[in-house]
Amino acid sequence: MRDFDETSITEAVIGRLAECDDPRFQRVMTALITHLHEFVREVKLTEPEWLTAIQFLTDVGRTCTDKRQEFILLSDTLGVSVLVITLNHPADQGSVESTVLGPFYWEGAPELPRGSNLAEGVTGEPTFYSGRVLGVDSRTLANALLDIWSGDGEGNYDMQMPAETGMRARGRIRTDAAGRYWFRSILPTFYPVPTDGPVGRMLRKMGRHPYRPGHIHMIVSAPGYPPVTTHLFVAGSQYLDSDAVFGMKQSLVAQFEQHAPGIGPDGERIDTRFYTVNYDFRLRPAGAAPPIEA
Ligand SMILES: [Fe+2]
Repeated sequence: MRDFDETSITEAVIGRLAECDDPRFQRVMTALITHLHEFVREVKLTEPEWLTAIQFLTDVGRTCTDKRQEFILLSDTLGVSVLVITLNHPADQGSVESTVLGPFYWEGAPELPRGSNLAEGVTGEPTFYSGRVLGVDSRTLANALLDIWSGDGEGNYDMQMPAETGMRARGRIRTDAAGRYWFRSILPTFYPVPTDGPVGRMLRKMGRHPYRPGHIHMIVSAPGYPPVTTHLFVAGSQYLDSDAVFGMKQSLVAQFEQHAPGIGPDGERIDTRFYTVNYDFRLRPAGAAPPIEA
């Protein structure tokens, strides 16, 4: 038996990791325990506050379903997601910057021919996306894959709709032999992250707004080039300077050019105003990323 005081407890808990046979796990847990204890000491956490925190995390877990990931939202709104991403995917050699995956990625979107309208039947202003996928050395990458998703023109994602809605505004598009991609979707608008759960309560308590600037998501990869999870942000969108999940990066802001009703880039007549945007994604080849310190 041994008694611990408010500082020796930290060393005692870390000491129990002595037999851990996974050095990386040992390092991570040692740092986690050290900072967690220091946090409790620094704020002099009260018992009611500690129980509130446990109830909050319990609620976050209970709010998760197969289509809603409240823990990702918590990580996003606390800036942890973008911190992990930025550490692991530094933007160097001119490669496209990464940003948050967010809570609405749905694996297995259909692979569609170039030029497809991903947002068939979805409300929103028609927008024609095009560009190239290149290596950081400017070589064009054929057969690169863009796994694309967005909300509708009002920022509502299919995963927030009734189950029978199925996938909307999602699709996978490959580049042609010259590394080019093009597809049609909608003009993304700003929208609030879900606020009807515990993370929403946390944001209100913090005095924060829940909005993200208009953006479309994509994971871009190519043979020999690891996937990059990123967005294109709409230049001029509201909340570019105060993204609720801190995912905004200036290099990902694209100009969406407005056009009067007329013939769209695909030769089809568009009866409403529409937009075009052109953006090239540059990828870093496998093995080129700087190693993270063990
Ligand atoms: Fe989003």
